[in-house]
Amino acid sequence: MAIPREIVEQILQAAHIEEVVGEFVTLKKRGSNLWGNCPFHNEKTPSFSVNPARNIFKCFGCGKAGDSAKFLMEHEHYTYPEALRYLAKKYNIKIEEKQQTAEEIMQQSIREKMFNINEFADKYFVDTLWNTEEGKTIGLEYFRERGYFDPIIQKFHLGYNPAKWDAFTEHAKKNGYSEELLEQIGLSIKGNNGLYDRYHGRVMFPIHSLTGRVIGFGGRILTNDKKSPKYQNSPESEIYDKKQTLYGIYFAKNAIARQDECILVEGYFDVLRMHQIGIENVVASSGTSLTMEQIRLVKRYTKNITMLYDGDAAGIHAALRGTDMILSEGMNVRVVVLPPEHDPDTFGKEFSTEYVSNYLKENAKDFIRFKTELLLKDAENDPIKRGQVIRDIVETISVIPDSIFRITYVKECSRLLDMPEQTLTNELNKILRSKLKKTLGIEDNVVPETDTTTVTPKQEELLKTSCLRVIIRSVNW
Ligand code: UTP
Ligand code: MN
Repeated sequence: MAIPREIVEQILQAAHIEEVVGEFVTLKKRGSNLWGNCPFHNEKTPSFSVNPARNIFKCFGCGKAGDSAKFLMEHEHYTYPEALRYLAKKYNIKIEEKQQTAEEIMQQSIREKMFNINEFADKYFVDTLWNTEEGKTIGLEYFRERGYFDPIIQKFHLGYNPAKWDAFTEHAKKNGYSEELLEQIGLSIKGNNGLYDRYHGRVMFPIHSLTGRVIGFGGRILTNDKKSPKYQNSPESEIYDKKQTLYGIYFAKNAIARQDECILVEGYFDVLRMHQIGIENVVASSGTSLTMEQIRLVKRYTKNITMLYDGDAAGIHAALRGTDMILSEGMNVRVVVLPPEHDPDTFGKEFSTEYVSNYLKENAKDFIRFKTELLLKDAENDPIKRGQVIRDIVETISVIPDSIFRITYVKECSRLLDMPEQTLTNELNKILRSKLKKTLGIEDNVVPETDTTTVTPKQEELLKTSCLRVIIRSVNW
């Protein structure tokens, strides 16, 4: 929803750059400007300046500059509207949304209610963990037993939901939350004997949005009861869209941008462990297969993804599944496979930070090499299987949007597969050509009657991606 132009102006005028920046950077006055260490690049002597008179910031080291909104977009990775909303809140400016229908207002208030009850629940679970006998002896003890220290338990707002059937539900109802809302957000479930806690007897992981609001929960069981799933998770709701969410993104986003790399793991505990040993650019896909939306979320911060997966067959399989999708977004993918008996949690518990960092550096394999070696091992000396491997690899190369990268990979694979480069190039072109025809709406094997000058505007639009343009020039219809 658009914020009216007058309000935007009002917000930008009200925002004092030194106050906005001052929340994130320590500034000292020197002359008419304020100075600090630049948050966007590493430095020891301040070259980052804030000019209150002109209401802008500028770094003389890395060149970043702009107004308050720009600073928030760079530093907090907000979108422009998110930055404006942040400032409006800070300076008490009411944003009158344009053309909000009655239904939109309703929706808005449902979302607000959901955020509120989640915040309430989050506080309750944390309070129960630290301040009740049951929480301390069962929940807190569980985390400590697994080797987690208090700061990490606090940072991630880990909590505990008592074993009593409806402890939280009762507490929420007493505080005025409706049964309907409790059920909608999934904190409670309706049974034959009334509403009960979805997470009773579990340790709790709140799931945060990009801006740090609690949008859902995951709860881990503490017994070996095989009848209940190991994790209970919030159902989707108006505020929780699983395919758009990555666990830990709120805590990892700055480190991801700073290090220009995102490490992707599978589980809640894997994220916690990495943070505990000081590796903070880590998020989890939470056990489901990666979605395009999640990849785009990461792409806001970096183009480099390292997938860190368990050394077992399932982990390797999961790694393979994600790669083509990441590549098609023009991102660089590397894969690290852990020793078979480990997941990132146990690995980080057993070894030092230095050992883990080195392991990551030394074992990160470019995905093409990873996939080729893996598939080749399977095919060994079976010529039919080998043919399949080659097609499979070339198919993967074909999703990469950048033609120069494609060529590089063809070279590398030609070496790995012991195959002439030309053979692979031919195979690649065949795939690209058939993809192009599909994109243009031309059936395979049907030669178009006209040349490419007759493409429709829509087709023209599709042709704008570099990948397709290259082919159009090189394909002989
Ligand atoms: P894992 O089985 O690897 O769990 O599932 P974990 O995180 O390593 O937990 P521990 O170490 O056994 O305690 C990876 C992720 O898959 C999701 C969770 O997000 C979990 O972190 N998952 C797993 C579920 O949602 N439900 C389940 O029943 C199991
Ligand atoms: Mn684990």
